[in-house]
Amino acid sequence: MCSIEKILVSIVLINILQLETYVCAKNNSKIIMYEAKENYKFLITGGYRPKIDNLAKYVVSIRGKKYKRFFGDDHNCGGSIISPKVILTAAHCVCMIASRIELRPSDLLVVAGTPRRLVVTEKTQVLKVDKVIRHIYYCPITIRNDIALLFLLKNIYEDGVSAQRISLQTNIFPPYTFCTLLGWGRIFTLGPTPDLILHADIYILPTEICKASYIHFGFGMMCARDETDFEKDSCTGDSGGPLICNGSLTGIVSFGFGCGVPYRVSYYTNVTSYLDWIRENGFGKLSSVNFISLILLQIFIIEGM
Ligand SMILES: *[C@@H]1O[C@H](CO)[C@@H](O)[C@H](O)[C@H]1NC(C)=O
Ligand SMILES: *[C@@H]1O[C@H](CO)[C@@H](O)[C@H](O)[C@H]1NC(C)=O
Ligand SMILES: *[C@@H]1O[C@H](CO)[C@@H](O)[C@H](O)[C@H]1NC(C)=O
Repeated sequence: MCSIEKILVSIVLINILQLETYVCAKNNSKIIMYEAKENYKFLITGGYRPKIDNLAKYVVSIRGKKYKRFFGDDHNCGGSIISPKVILTAAHCVCMIASRIELRPSDLLVVAGTPRRLVVTEKTQVLKVDKVIRHIYYCPITIRNDIALLFLLKNIYEDGVSAQRISLQTNIFPPYTFCTLLGWGRIFTLGPTPDLILHADIYILPTEICKASYIHFGFGMMCARDETDFEKDSCTGDSGGPLICNGSLTGIVSFGFGCGVPYRVSYYTNVTSYLDWIRENGFGKLSSVNFISLILLQIFIIEGM
């Protein structure tokens, strides 16, 4: 899965990776600095804001436990609400820099209910994390199995307008199906991060294209871009956030080589490949907890009688 002989090749790759947010990020390399000068373009990157945003309600901002100077300045990653208690995100969003060392639940906060990153609105919900489950075969070198779940201490209040769970993708799409990417990531390489969430419409590319530009491409990965408009792309801070196809959660922003760089695809975790993992580790664990509380409840009811 994550063998030592891959490390040398991978170090080179990791140096040019930059979709990581600062929790799992390497220090920005010179290559990126150079590219930033060459490609000073608006990237989620290339994003837009719809008049009526029907998708932002599914997305949360994952942050540190305490902001530095103002609310939201510690945004690290995006995530998706898959149940009132469970957030789906990328594994690299919940670990230390390029390692497998997991962050503690108390190091993380989830902010739901608002498309604004920096403003506390009446809909803003700030939620503590109770537990982190990262895929045990997540490999920080190949970035395989870049998937994790956050269990919240309290349920997200779902009103269907500002916060809502999203269904997981069970359909298989042909290549070149358009999907929507959402996030608060940088609007261009090393550029600022927006307050109001951005969208970009990109499409899933054929596997051969994904393989051609990443030697570790394998199970559970997919790649996406809009080959007619390379400015549309995910960037630092979009990690962990959703790629939504036909209304369901299909991809998790994972990594890429620069942002909005022509002829470079970006990589996503294929949610459909992990349906069993999500069910076992997410919903499975939840239902067993509920089952136990149900038994306890019954015991109490019987004792009370
Ligand atoms: C990145 O590296 C440079 C030079 O190696 C250093 O000056 C800078 O403080 C580092 N930045 C971070 C965020 O670690
Ligand atoms: C898109 O979603 C609709 C309703 O959720 C479903 O009926 C349809 O089959 C989906 N389309 C594809 C191509 O999966
Ligand atoms: C995503 O995973 C599913 C299930 O493993 C697979 O059938 C599908 O082809 C994958 N999608 C892409 C774009 O690779």
